[in-house]
Amino acid sequence: MYTSRRMFLGGLISSLFVSHSAVPVRGQGEAPALFTKKPEDFDPNLIVFLSDTHCNPKGLSYQRQRLQAVVAEILKLNPLPARVVIFGDFAYLNGRREDYVAASQTVKPLADAGIKLTIGMGNHDRREPFLEFYPDYAKTSPVPGRIVSVVETQHLDLIMLDSLQHEPSGKGIGGGLIDPEQRKWLALTLQNYKKPVFVSAHHSIKELKLDKLLVNTPQVAGFIHGHHHRWTKGWVKADWTNSRTLRTLCLPSTGHWGDIGYTLFRIRPDRAVAELRQSDFYFPHPLPKEKRPEDWDIHLEENRGQTCTFILPKGTAV
Ligand SMILES: [Fe+2]
Repeated sequence: MYTSRRMFLGGLISSLFVSHSAVPVRGQGEAPALFTKKPEDFDPNLIVFLSDTHCNPKGLSYQRQRLQAVVAEILKLNPLPARVVIFGDFAYLNGRREDYVAASQTVKPLADAGIKLTIGMGNHDRREPFLEFYPDYAKTSPVPGRIVSVVETQHLDLIMLDSLQHEPSGKGIGGGLIDPEQRKWLALTLQNYKKPVFVSAHHSIKELKLDKLLVNTPQVAGFIHGHHHRWTKGWVKADWTNSRTLRTLCLPSTGHWGDIGYTLFRIRPDRAVAELRQSDFYFPHPLPKEKRPEDWDIHLEENRGQTCTFILPKGTAV
């Protein structure tokens, strides 16, 4: 299922289709699922953010069980979110094909219900096996060779960058990178942006050295990322002579380690509010109740009810 989108690229207006459907190999050529939902069942201003799913394909691993539980919770939301965005590390550890078999099957009920899905690349992902399951990204990414998406909503857009870097051998590098080509595309795109826009990636704004560009671009409403597996609110400044700051938000992991949960992103004409739904904290893996360190519950308790509000830049709201 595709949705037509328009974006600016160096003054050039082109059509971009960014609604991606999982296309597992066995599913190629299958008739599209028959959605039983009606348009009024969806809230176009509600997006669910997932990150660091690390879908371990070994049986019903705890990572996969947690992701399944999150998918089931999302499907119980009324109204349903129009879209789910996954902020990378969709694969378990090394971006193997079997990781994407498990991960794509686990999130398939979302697409079956008519919820659009956007997936970004993390350092544990690999583009080639991912594209075998989600081939649309190769056609729609505005940066060739990278998996970049632009999600449009009525009041704001969200750009998902591709910060995955790995050695030619395919071996992973933990750190993220926005390559020169992608950086150039981003700068040109933001220059021409008319709507409030969020920029996002798997890695943090500082690690990607995007802070200067984004805080100096008035249309940018915030930066959202994963990788640290902790719900963390932050901000960056332009300089000491300027009152402009840019809010940042790091998302929890759905089930690997750290803060365990997901985030509801509610969009209003003048703001967007991220709401944490946290179900657990553990490191490096879950433990039975009698063995849980006390501070795991303190992390959980202190995060209860957390929100992060992003004010949409004035003068750019539509
Ligand atoms: Fe991760």
